Amino acid sequence: MRKPFVAANWKMHKNVQESVDFINQIKGKLPSFDQLEVGIAGTTLALHSMAVAAKDSDVQIIAQNAFKEFEGAYTGEISPKALADSGVDYVLLGHIERRTMFNESNQMVNQKVIATLQAGMTPIICTDETMVQKEHGGSVHYVFAQLMNVLHDVSFDQVKNIIISYEPSWAVGAGQHANPILAEEGCRQIRQTIADSYSYEVADKIRILYGGSVNPDNIEELMRKRDIDGVLIGRASLDADNFLSMVNTVN
Ligand code: G3H
Repeated sequence: MRKPFVAANWKMHKNVQESVDFINQIKGKLPSFDQLEVGIAGTTLALHSMAVAAKDSDVQIIAQNAFKEFEGAYTGEISPKALADSGVDYVLLGHIERRTMFNESNQMVNQKVIATLQAGMTPIICTDETMVQKEHGGSVHYVFAQLMNVLHDVSFDQVKNIIISYEPSWAVGAGQHANPILAEEGCRQIRQTIADSYSYEVADKIRILYGGSVNPDNIEELMRKRDIDGVLIGRASLDADNFLSMVNTVN
């Protein structure tokens, strides 16, 4: 049985106080951690304060990025060790916005995955594909290559706990979520890739999230799909009542 995961990705929204207020607003109202996991990816500056606010709760703190090294002459970068020391549990890596706007390659994402694991946090690895790839039948190969490259040197033991997110590029920030059948197909393809490259046992354990215009109206239908274990929510997660209503729908 895979525990559902509802993750908010606030991207570059909310200041420190707004982030803390949000945690305080939701933390007494969440379902038990045994049933459902809830995580929030705030901006880097807010993460430590969010972790302090979430201390007596089951809210998981997610960073939106981490560098491949723990320390050194890397002006402006974010140390995975500093994130772990700040109370961060998970790190989003390889989000489509990082890949397209900041030129992150599969190799760079892989190095960040390894460093995140070494720092004792769990990566949430984002995978994507375009409609052109899907329509031309290239998506199986594309998703396989992307995943295998970012999981290079990740062991059986490590991969079991990693979370993978499937975010079709045409649905991210578009207001129009992927057709749930296509969303399920993307997540199933990822699970099959893990089964082929690791084992069926690992594929059965690993949690796969869908991301792309999830909102209170479509979350239930998406979560009914067998291979969708959770969601990564952008815009619709910014409002605490909206977010709580989606969490309660999944529960
Ligand atoms: O990380 C979240 C995804 O990019 C989806 O964002 O829900 O605003 O489409 P969105």
